[in-house]
Amino acid sequence: MKLSSFGEKLTNGSGIVDLMQDLGSALNENPNMIFMGGGNPARIPEMEAVFKAQYKKLIESSEQLYSTAGVYQSPQGELGFRRDIASMLKQEYGWQLKESNIAVSNGSQSAFYILFNLLAGQMPDGSFKSIHLPLTPEYIGYNDLGLSDNFFTGSKPEIELIGDDQFKYHVNFDDLSVGEDTAALCVSRPTNPTANMLTDDEIKHLDSLAKQADIPLIIDGAYGVPFPNINFVDVEPHWNNNTVLVLSLSKLGLPGVRTGIVIANEQTIQAFSSANTVINLASGNMGPSLTRDLFASNAIIELSKQYIQPFYKQRSQQVMALFQQAMTDIPCRTHLSEGAIFLWLWFEGLPITSEVLYQRLKQRGVLVVSGHHFFAGIDDQWPHQHQCIRVSYGQDFSQIEQGIKIIAEEAKLAYQQG
Ligand SMILES: Cc1ncc(COP(=O)(O)O)c(C=O)c1O
Repeated sequence: MKLSSFGEKLTNGSGIVDLMQDLGSALNENPNMIFMGGGNPARIPEMEAVFKAQYKKLIESSEQLYSTAGVYQSPQGELGFRRDIASMLKQEYGWQLKESNIAVSNGSQSAFYILFNLLAGQMPDGSFKSIHLPLTPEYIGYNDLGLSDNFFTGSKPEIELIGDDQFKYHVNFDDLSVGEDTAALCVSRPTNPTANMLTDDEIKHLDSLAKQADIPLIIDGAYGVPFPNINFVDVEPHWNNNTVLVLSLSKLGLPGVRTGIVIANEQTIQAFSSANTVINLASGNMGPSLTRDLFASNAIIELSKQYIQPFYKQRSQQVMALFQQAMTDIPCRTHLSEGAIFLWLWFEGLPITSEVLYQRLKQRGVLVVSGHHFFAGIDDQWPHQHQCIRVSYGQDFSQIEQGIKIIAEEAKLAYQQG
C-alpha cells in the first residue's frame, strides 16, 4: 500500500498510537499487568447507577430511542442539548452563552483535531502558524494532531521546589513570546499529565496575551469545571468571547460514548461545525441523550461535586502518601496534586531515561507512561524531560499499592546501579 503524506503522518510512529498499542499488547501478554498508564476514568458506583437509570429511561421510550439512533442530528449537535448546556453555564458562571455558542463533537480529541487544523498550519498567504503550548509538559494526545510538521511550539515551565519531595510548575512568562506565527495558545486545566492547576493569575495573563495578539486561548477542560470537576484547589472557571473551552463527557465515566463539547464565539462554532460536517456528517447522539436530563436539571454539577471530585481527591491523597513513604531514600519529587487523575513523578538526576524505567517497569508487570512523550515543541536536550513518569491512580487500589512498591524498587535499583 502506498500512503500519502497524510497517511504517513498518521501511521508513522505517532507517539499516542505507539503508546496505546504498546499498552494494549502489554495487557494481552500479561493480563495481570498493573495498569497505571492510561487515562481511563475510575469506576464510581454512584455514577454508574445514574447512567444505568438514564439508559433504562432511554430504551423505554420509542421516541427517545428514535431521536438517539434513528436520525442525524444537526452538525452542531442537538438543539435542546446545546440550549441546556448554555443555560446551565450561564446560570452557574454568568457567561453570556446561547445555543449558537455550543457545538457537540465525537469526543474532545476529535474537536482538538478540527480546531487546531482550522487555526494553524499553512496559511492562505503562504505563511505558517503553530499552536503554542505555554506550559509543557502538556497532553500527549495533541502531539500528532497537526497536519503539518512543527505544528506545536512549547515553553518550558518554571519549577518551584516545595519542601523535600514536592514541586509545582508555573508558566514562565519571560520565555513566552506570542509572535506573528502563533495561531492560538492551548492549555489543559487541570493539566494532563502533571495534575497542575494553572492559577487564576496565569489564566488572566494568558488571556490578555491572546487578546493582544488577536488569537484564541484554548482551554482543555477534560477534567475541569463544571464537570467532571476533578479539581482539588479553588480556581475561577474562565470563558470569554476570545476563549475556546473544550469539555468532555469522558471523565464523568462515559469515555465510550465519545462526546465532546466546544464552547466558543459564534464565528468559531460555525467554522467548527462546517469542518465537523465534512469529517463526521454529524456527531453521535448517545452522549447527549444520556446526559440531557442531567444538564437540564444542573444535576451534572452536583453529581460531579458529590461523587467524582471526592473520589479522586481522596485517591490522590492516598497515593501521594504511599509514594512519599516508598521513595524516602531516593531523590523523587511529586508534582502538587491539584486535579485530574494522575500523579507526575520527577526522579532528579535519574541515571537512566524515563523510557528505560518505563520498559523495566513493564517487564515487572507495571504500566506507567514515560514523561518524555509530553514535551511537544520543546528541544530534546533538556534532561528534565527524561526524568519524569506519569502514573494514573483510578484503578483498583490494592493493585496500585502493589504498583507503587514496584516503581520504588525499580527506581532505587536504577540509582544504585547509577
Ligand atoms: C487533557 C485531555 N484532553 C482531551 C482528552 C480527550 O478525551 P475524549 O476524546 O475522550 O473527550 C483527554 C483524554 O484522556 C485528555 O486527557
